[in-house]
Amino acid sequence: MTSSDRYRAMAERVLPGGAIGTRLNPDGLNMTIASAAGSRITDVDGTEWIDYVGGAGALILGHQHPAVVDAVQRQAARSLHQYAALSDVAVELAAALVDAVPGAERMVFTTTGSEATSYAIRMARAATGRTKILKFEGAFHGNHDYAGIGVSPAGPSAYPAGTAFTDGTPKAVVDTMLIAPYNDLERLRQITDEHGHDVAGIIVEPVQRIISPQPGFLEGLRALADELGAVLIFDEVVTGFRLAYGGAQEYFGVQADLATFGKIVGGGGPGGAVIGSADLVDQSHPNRKGTGGYVYASGTLHGNPIGAAAGLATLALLREPGFYDALAARTCALTHAIATELGKHGQGAIVEHVGSMWQILHTTRSPQQYTDLLDANPAATVAFDIELMRRRINVVPGLRRFVSSAHTDEDFTKTVAAVADACHALEEQDDH
Ligand SMILES: Cc1ncc(COP(=O)(O)O)c(C=O)c1O
Repeated sequence: MTSSDRYRAMAERVLPGGAIGTRLNPDGLNMTIASAAGSRITDVDGTEWIDYVGGAGALILGHQHPAVVDAVQRQAARSLHQYAALSDVAVELAAALVDAVPGAERMVFTTTGSEATSYAIRMARAATGRTKILKFEGAFHGNHDYAGIGVSPAGPSAYPAGTAFTDGTPKAVVDTMLIAPYNDLERLRQITDEHGHDVAGIIVEPVQRIISPQPGFLEGLRALADELGAVLIFDEVVTGFRLAYGGAQEYFGVQADLATFGKIVGGGGPGGAVIGSADLVDQSHPNRKGTGGYVYASGTLHGNPIGAAAGLATLALLREPGFYDALAARTCALTHAIATELGKHGQGAIVEHVGSMWQILHTTRSPQQYTDLLDANPAATVAFDIELMRRRINVVPGLRRFVSSAHTDEDFTKTVAAVADACHALEEQDDH
């Protein structure tokens, strides 16, 4: 029994399935993390993994970047936590965030990305006096009830009706959400022809998981929201500071009314934000409490100084000229090499990538919407990813992954070799 196995057994006594969240590694691949640095994670048995999970995308600079660690240590010595009080680092982060987001004027802090999407939805409803939120099938916006509709249905949805991805969701909540296929403006138009008068907001992941917007799709959403008088919400929890310093709004040149952030904004610590126009975000002005035009947005950890210090230190490095071009070019080289290897071995898989996000998919063509992923071969993708894990490449099987600025050429060479080796192993399994 390895030390990781022992921790897994200990975890099973107190955590459901012995897991944190939804991730349960397959047998033989228990991994309890002891430390991390740059692109690598070391488990409690001393085994080193090349990491592409990157803290679910939060760690664009890799693990333990010296500038971030230094900022956190200095902040920890000054003040770990305050409640609803301005701190120098929180105010500086807020200013940096609003300045980064195209056209933004104001923001509220959150602790997580989920909290950000829940406030954005609330702001849209409060501002319009309407109820329904249009969301795309297969999009993930976090762990609250509204976000949980139409996330991972087993087949195509009965648009615009969605289903909840978790038990415990009231039907009344399900009924407030309208579900549409991503990248399909025509279908969307049919839905809004019927329900448009009650649409408070349209929430979209500008890149839905690993699916890119078709040319004109985001622009179409912008025009539709304007026509309906609805609030356009870009969920930039992943794409924010990942695709570009100004996020997907800068990358695709389309401006939302509200954008939600998490992950990179907290530099690996607690931190998120809803950022947008003064009209919408000022609904959370404390003086408006009790006036009938007020949106509650507050939390114990909002503007937490540790997360703020980590976020500020991260953003400073992201502003360095050429950062995003270099990261995208390196990801492109990696994914090209992986695709070549998969092609050589007739895996029947493609490698999707946008900026520094990538994923292997067992399909022949780029997916345009959620149902294309169902039509692919997700079981083969998961089996392949598990083979990568056996070769100490840390990925969440079947999920998108991230390149950080800490990944080296050696990491890439080893990753491509692991891909080739995984192909061989699966070929051998097929032969037997
Ligand atoms: C697009 C998107 N929105 C929201 C969330 C929720 O963020 P958090 O896990 O910080 O609550 C996530 C998390 O992965 C996400 O990918």
